[in-house]
Formats: sequence, C-alpha cells, structure tokens
Amino acid sequence: MKLVIEPVRSKRRSVIEITSDIYPKLAQILEDNYHSRKVLLIIDQTVFAIYDKEISQPFAESSLQQTFFKIPGGEATKSVDYLLKGYKKLIENNFSRDDLIIAIGGGTVGDLAGYLASTYQRGISYIQVPTTLLAQIDSSVGGKTAINYQNKKNVIGSIYHPDQVLIDLKFLETLTNRDFNSGLGELIKYALLDNNFYHLLNKSCAEIIKRNDFNQQLLSEVIYQALRIKNNYVRFDQDDFGKRRMLNLGHTLGHALESYTDFKDYRHGEGVIIGIVFAAYISLKENRLSSTKFDEILSLIKKFNFDFNLPKKLDVSKIIELMKSDKKVRSGKINFILLKDIGEPFVTDQLTEEKISDYLEDLKCLKLV
Ligand SMILES: NC(=O)c1ccc[n+]([C@@H]2O[C@H](COP(=O)([O-])OP(=O)(O)OC[C@H]3O[C@@H](n4cnc5c(N)ncnc54)[C@H](O)[C@@H]3O)[C@@H](O)[C@H]2O)c1
Repeated sequence: MKLVIEPVRSKRRSVIEITSDIYPKLAQILEDNYHSRKVLLIIDQTVFAIYDKEISQPFAESSLQQTFFKIPGGEATKSVDYLLKGYKKLIENNFSRDDLIIAIGGGTVGDLAGYLASTYQRGISYIQVPTTLLAQIDSSVGGKTAINYQNKKNVIGSIYHPDQVLIDLKFLETLTNRDFNSGLGELIKYALLDNNFYHLLNKSCAEIIKRNDFNQQLLSEVIYQALRIKNNYVRFDQDDFGKRRMLNLGHTLGHALESYTDFKDYRHGEGVIIGIVFAAYISLKENRLSSTKFDEILSLIKKFNFDFNLPKKLDVSKIIELMKSDKKVRSGKINFILLKDIGEPFVTDQLTEEKISDYLEDLKCLKLV
C-alpha cells in the first residue's frame, strides 16, 4: 500500500509504503535514488540486536558508503547529547548535503534522526524505517522532528519531511506488549478524530490486540487508515497553526505527565490515553460532549485494557505549571483539544487554571475502570 504525502506549502514530499518485503525494497530505493552516496544509519540498538543480519543486507549489496550510529531507544535519546554525537559522526565522515540519513527504530530514534537531518548543513535527505507501532502510525510521517531539553518535551525541533517512509509489520512481532500498547494509545486518538475509523477500531480491537497471531491484512489496513487521517490533518497545515493542532488530542496532559515523571514512568502513548480521557471528561463537564458519547469513548479505551486512572498523589499544581511551559501554549493560555462528538474535535484556550485544576482533582478521585 502506498501513500504520498505532499504538504501544500512544502517542497518536500514523502512517499510512504507499507511493505512485507522491506529489505529488497530498501536496496532498490538506495540503488535508484542514492547511488554512490554516503549513508548514516541511525539505528535503535535493540532493533539492531534482533535484526542485525537482515538490516545489514541491503547495504552490503549497495554502492553506498555506510556509517552506523547505534543508539538506545527511549526518551533519553532525544537529547542534545545524542544530537551532538550525530553531528560528530556526520562531520568526521565528511557527509555533504547530497548524502543520506536512514533512521531505523521507534519514534525516539526517528525524532532525533529527523532533527539531525533537518539541521545538518541546513538539511540533508532522510528515510524513516519505523519499527514500533507508534512510529508506523504516527511519528515517522508528517515531518515533525524534535529533541527534549531541560525536561521539556520536544522543545527543540523542526518540521522536515523524510523522502521515504518504509513500513514493515514484521518489526511489530518483537515489540514488548507495553510498547505495542503505547502505539494503540495514538491509534485510539485517530479513532476519536474520525468516525469511520472509530467503527473500524471498535469492531476489530480483539483482533488487533492479539499479539501472537497477527492479522497482517487487518493491521495493514488499520495503519494505512491512521496515516490517511494524519495526512488529512497535516496536508493543509504543516506548520501546525490550524487543523493539524487537532492531532494534539490527549497531548496537553500526556506531555505534562511524561515531563512530571522525568520521562520515566509513562510511555508516550500511555500519557496520551490518560490525556484523551481527561479531554473527554472536560468536554463532558463543559457540556460539549454528551454522556452517551463519553461512555462510548471510555468503553472503546477499556476494550484495549488501558489503565487510565491518574495517580492519587499527582501534584496538580506542578502539572499545571508543566502545561503552561508546553509549546502548545499560545498567548500564555493552555490549549486543549476537546470533543463535541467522535470525529468532531475543536481547540479551546478558554479554560481557566482553576477549572483545569478542579477537573484534574475530579479525575484523581474518579475510578473509571
Ligand atoms: N514526530 C512526531 O510526529 C511524533 C508523533 C508521535 C510521537 N512522537 C514521539 O515518539 C516517541 C515515542 O516513540 P516509540 O513509542 O516508538 O518509543 P521508542 O522509540 O522509545 O521505542 C519504544 C521501545 O521499543 C524498542 N523497539 C523499537 N523497535 C522495536 C522492535 N521492532 N522490536 C523490539 N523492540 C523495539 C525501543 O528500543 C524502545 O525501548 C516519543 O518521543 C514521542 O514524543 C513523535
């Protein structure tokens, strides 16, 4: 399955392909488009340990000069430290603007590699090979790249599209359940942004969460639909000032929870799910979402077995401070994406800090499971 993302105001376009034969495909792309160039392979160490032989194969047969940069997956990798190590590799190996970076890993490796690619010599080409569910349905496309700094999530970043995104479902077989579920968090977000996708996910969740016997066809369709929805939001608003902001559903609280725990306690998708429940709860309390729809949303999330209760000890004032320092803040106001209905998100900056704080206190006491 192939999807071409052409953001309206950008010269760069991404070709996204879901394939079951990634290595010959990659070899072909390298030979056709990047013949005799240098390639920096930024690869998740865990992924390399599992897929070492297969991954090395297309490069062994190509005319490219390769340099490996193996890094750990996880939030700590999205750091100035690893960014500087990346520049060092590029400079020491004399990379120039017509060379190439390939990111093979989850969203953290992809975000770091994308930012490195966008800033080295004002931008060199890169290819994403996402190996987690979250990266396959979300982070590898749309061009957002970022690192964290001073405990602030994605505070340094750019919008820079990869030339190609190659998605192979085989990588998902070796993900831990926790990392697979984290991807489901973002998948549920897409379901709440698109009514048709909501019905598809609702109908097929039992099949999707079966880990030992993937339904490849269904999962390909689900990934394709998620990317199609993302594309619809990104295409006309790649700079993230309008429609694209709806993709931040669940992220105002999600990012704050990640920062609150020094990126240690929550996977990205786990924070997003709690954030989605909070956004739905605010929507209900502000009389924008009916109680029937609120229950429907909770029931979908429950089907995926998420724990979405807030910790009782959560310091709400600290969470508010973190939300205020998030890059989604405009004119000093905290922004939330709320829901009028499934498939009808909207943005608001009209909630006072007192209200947000009260709703967070409510959610701490409510046992929703
Ligand atoms: N750029 C964007 O538009 C965008 C969108 C959503 C999320 N994100 C970012 O994505 C990041 C989260 O990405 P993630 O969930 O992929 O986390 P991750 O990159 O940390 O990967 C999760 C874990 O899975 C391991 N792993 C990766 N592939 C594997 C495989 N095939 N088999 C076994 N283990 C594997 C990694 O080593 C890591 O331990 C966050 O930093 C988030 O901010 C970015």
